[in-house]
Amino acid sequence: MRIPGIVDPHVHMREPGAEYKEDWDSGTKAALAGGVTTVLAMPNTRPAITDRSTLQQSLTVAAAKARCDFAQYMGAGSENLDSAAPLAPHAAGLKMYLDQTFGNLKLDDMSHWMQHFQNWPAASPLCVHAEGASLATAILLAELYNRPVHLCHISLRSEILLIKAAKARGIPVTCEVTPHHLFLSQDDIQAIGSGRSEVRPRLTTRNDVQALWNNLDSIDCFATDHAPHTLAEKDGENPPPGFPGLESALPLYLTAVSEGRLTMEDIIKRCVTNPRRIFHLPEQPDTFVEIDPHARWNFSAANTFTRCGWSPFEGYPMTGRIESVTLRGEIAFKAGEVLARPGTGRNLRQALS
Ligand code: DOR
Ligand code: ZN
Ligand code: ZN
Repeated sequence: MRIPGIVDPHVHMREPGAEYKEDWDSGTKAALAGGVTTVLAMPNTRPAITDRSTLQQSLTVAAAKARCDFAQYMGAGSENLDSAAPLAPHAAGLKMYLDQTFGNLKLDDMSHWMQHFQNWPAASPLCVHAEGASLATAILLAELYNRPVHLCHISLRSEILLIKAAKARGIPVTCEVTPHHLFLSQDDIQAIGSGRSEVRPRLTTRNDVQALWNNLDSIDCFATDHAPHTLAEKDGENPPPGFPGLESALPLYLTAVSEGRLTMEDIIKRCVTNPRRIFHLPEQPDTFVEIDPHARWNFSAANTFTRCGWSPFEGYPMTGRIESVTLRGEIAFKAGEVLARPGTGRNLRQALS
């Protein structure tokens, strides 16, 4: 069975600054191994991507190392309220952190939220990490500034119900859900381990998970929020939040198809068509993933390409396997091997010279 190459609009590459967790090479290998042919990279690197020179730095490295297509987000800060917007044509979009998570991009001042909503061009994606009450604020700002806003990694019943109500009122919001918020809950923390289970938003109750499944119609995209940290870090003193996700996501969705909880159309809509529309991405010609929908296997981090070396889905029984990935007519992944060369991935936004 053949499906189009997947778009993952929420990936943390860790380069520059933390290449021991992931770099543009290992991260795009992991992407291809997971059937992902387009990644949109988050800006909470070290340094964070907040101006022309840091954007240039990331795009230069990505152009040299990426094995799949890409675009790089700008981060919203208190220092780039006016200077970020002119860079929009070169960026995947603007990412705003309204709540604390990994990195130092959290915006504390609500007047800064408002200025970014006002300044960032409506034709370029604006994504927010916003939980609970800040999610409600982000939705209000979408209405007030009359511009599309994409709500990252929704996890709670109250959040998906709020989004459903906002959409019913015609407020221009879209949202994504991660595989870990669809396939794991607080009940799994003990088996995964408490440090390894740290993630933002946190794993939720089974009731919240069920609410996401019950409201699939209101979920526009599946996005991994691939956020690699090493095992030593996750098992250490101050475990940083985040899960790897690129290589387990599609197998999990295929497993849900085998159980009758999703259809192939559900997957293609949320992993290809909707993200392409929401993030204004071109079609990738001659780009597809060959799948064996019946293959049964157990997920093992030992066979992954991410540099982080672990997975919250270790041992998870999967039905459905990625056999090969073709990117623009060239075989990029086959039989467990990444064949695409570094630098074959293209920047999907305007070049920054
Ligand atoms: O768990 C998370 N990890 N959530 C985020 O929002 C950031 C991410 C990271 O960069 O590690
Ligand atoms: Zn986030
Ligand atoms: Zn993230």
